[in-house]
Amino acid sequence: MLIVYMTLTGQTRRFVEKLPFECYELSTAFPTKQMTADFVVVAPTYDFEMTGIIDDFIDYQDNRRYFKGVAGSGNRNFAELYVFTARDLAKKYDVPIIAEFEFNGTEKDVDKFIKGVESIGNTSFTQ
Ligand SMILES: Cc1cc2nc3c(=O)[nH]c(=O)nc-3n(C[C@H](O)[C@H](O)[C@H](O)COP(=O)(O)O)c2cc1C
Repeated sequence: MLIVYMTLTGQTRRFVEKLPFECYELSTAFPTKQMTADFVVVAPTYDFEMTGIIDDFIDYQDNRRYFKGVAGSGNRNFAELYVFTARDLAKKYDVPIIAEFEFNGTEKDVDKFIKGVESIGNTSFTQ
């Protein structure tokens, strides 16, 4: 399983660096890539203008068919807007939410995420 993520202040990158999976960071410099295997997205939470590159990536060529789940990094102070980016992606693309966590996540969040990915199957450990 490949992890596709974006980050603006580095928290999501710090989370994915704790995972035993191969990761691909989306950025305006590297917004798209044709996928040939299953992936999950880890999304920070910001206005759509900032996270739209995630949707563009999923919509690129055949990528939608390999998109299997989403996790969200956010801040509970945003109350009802907590991790809305990941929740919106789950709804829009009809995929499960694997985990929701604050900032770069705790050990517990990492465990939950790994178990979630394993339950989706097709794990491919790089370590
Ligand atoms: C301008 C701004 C808006 C944000 N809006 C939300 C929000 O609506 N909901 C939420 O849960 N977190 C929100 N956050 C918190 C970030 O999503 C959170 O800190 C996340 O860990 C950042 O990930 P990143 O460092 O990978 O970019 C916001 C942060 C900033 C700076």
